[in-house]
Parts: sequence; C-alpha cells; structure tokens
Amino acid sequence: MSNQTNKIMSVIGSGTMGNGIAHVFAMSSNIEQVFLVDLNDEILSKAQSIIRKNLDRQVNKGIFSNSDSNKFYDKIIFTTDIEKTNSSNLVVEAVKEDLDIKKNIFSKLDKITSSQTILATNTSSISISDIAMATHNQGNVIGMHFMNPVPVMKLVEIIKGKNTDNSIVKRTLDYVSSINKIAVECNDSPGFVSNRILMPMINEAAFTYMEGVATVDAIDQIMKLGMGHPMGPLKLADLIGIDVCVSIMNVLFEGFKDEKYRVCPILETMIKNGKLGVKSGEGFYKY
Ligand code: NAI
Repeated sequence: MSNQTNKIMSVIGSGTMGNGIAHVFAMSSNIEQVFLVDLNDEILSKAQSIIRKNLDRQVNKGIFSNSDSNKFYDKIIFTTDIEKTNSSNLVVEAVKEDLDIKKNIFSKLDKITSSQTILATNTSSISISDIAMATHNQGNVIGMHFMNPVPVMKLVEIIKGKNTDNSIVKRTLDYVSSINKIAVECNDSPGFVSNRILMPMINEAAFTYMEGVATVDAIDQIMKLGMGHPMGPLKLADLIGIDVCVSIMNVLFEGFKDEKYRVCPILETMIKNGKLGVKSGEGFYKY
C-alpha cells in the first residue's frame, strides 16, 4: 500500500458512518487526502466537530499525540462538491439506505472518477449488484460494510457483487488492512451476514417491548447479562438509528418475501415522531 496510486480517497455522506470512515482513513499513513462530501455546509460543520471530538478522545486515551491528531484532521477536505472526488483511488459511499439515492450517486461517480477507482458502498443490506447497475464499470463496485462506531470496531464486511473483479476485491482487502481493520468476505445476499442475523434480533426486541413483555431496560439487561452481548438490542438500535434499522428490515422483507422479516410497528411510529435514536437525541432512550 505504499503505492503512489492509492493515496487519495473520498467518502460520500458525512453522517454517523461517513464521518467515522473519513476519520479512520485520515489516520492511515498511506492516505494523503480524504474528501468528505455532503449536501450542505451545516451538515459538514457537524461532521467536523464530531471528527474533532472523536480524535480528541483518542488523544486523551494516549493512542496518538495532539500533533498527530491535527495532522490527521488536516488531511480531510470537507466539501459539498462531489466533482472533487475525481482523483480518488477509492470512494466509499455512506448515504441513506435507499437504492435510488445510492444509484444516483454511483452514476455520478461513474462519470467523475477513473476506470481504476474502487467504488465501494457502505450499505447495510442493499444488493451490491443492483447498485453496480448504475455504472458502466460494474467490476469496480464492491460492498465495504463498516461497523458502528467506525473508529472502534475492527470488522469490515466485504461483499462481492455478481460482477465485482477479483483485482478490486484484492485492492479493497489491502485498504482494509492498511487502516488496521479486519476484512471478512461474504456473498451478495439481502442483509449480507451481519444484518441478516442482527436486525431480526433487534426487531424482535422491539416486538417484545411493544407487547409489554418487559421494559426497555429489562430487555437490554437480559440480553447483556444473559447472552454476553456488550450492549442490549434496543440501545444498539438507537446507536444504529431507528430509520436505518427499518430500512434494513424492509430490504430483508422484500428480498426474502418472508413474513418473519415484517417491521415492528413501534419502530415505524418512532420514525414518525422523529425518535431516530442517538442522532436525533431520543430513541428507546434519551440522549
Ligand atoms: P446518516 O443519515 O447518519 O448519514 C447520511 C448522510 O448522507 C447525511 O449526512 C446526508 O446529508 C448525506 N447525504 C444524503 N444524500 C447525499 C448526497 N446525495 N450526497 C452527499 N451526501 C448525502 O446515515 P448513516 O447511519 O451514516 O448510514 C449511511 C449508510 O451506512 C447507510 O447505507 C446505512 O445503512 C449504512 N450503515 C449504517 C450503520 C449505522 O450503524 N448507522 C452501520 C453500518 C452501515
């Protein structure tokens, strides 16, 4: 990865996942510049302060020095102009979990970037092959599914689409090891491995609460203390975002056409009431 051609990367979407992805790439000595793209300056300035805060936290833990933190931060260019991604060797898309929005971005990236650029999506559940259809070079499209919170979690689930080139898979695996994370590969199927198993559990926890079987706290405690999970499913739903959870359940429901993936109505109501979890200040818990 000391290769001159792998030095510039971009992230589209500076939300919960996008700002973390920009953060971890900025920390890599192999990366010179990170372009972080979002829709407006207000959203970008929120991302700026989150990245600053998260870097400061790592300085306080003694992971790196304050001057390294400044050096990492200075590598990130915050912009609303997607055209700035044109010289990138890798682009990771991390916008809303919606096929049409993602296809629109990939069709733009297809025109802007070179035929060598890896076009990765951080989608939690949508088919990589479907997203790739928006491009002329489907071999370059791959799933690069980071876990939340990105600076902390080690895993990146790598999803190979129907037409993803083996050379692109190999270069993507190199990128993952260059940021000190661990890649695990799987095939393109609704929810891949992680969310096919995790999300029905979260959805079932929501049903358990809705039916009055136990309180939010009790459900989370039982799963933490009894199953050894580091965090209860309802707290995790808040961290992921209730809207993201519902989008993933819908992809599973549509993909497998199986009633067992129906969304718990309480999650739909929470979205209507703006209770999206940590990012909106309230979900199953208040923040
Ligand atoms: P988010 O809602 O926090 O952030 C999305 C960002 O994309 C927003 O800042 C929005 O303004 C921006 N955006 C929307 N359209 C755009 C466009 N056309 N150009 C540039 N920016 C645009 O969403 P979050 O949670 O970060 O999720 C992003 C992706 O990552 C989704 O596909 C989600 O399924 C996936 N994911 C989410 C995880 C989580 O725990 N939240 C975990 C792993 C993957």
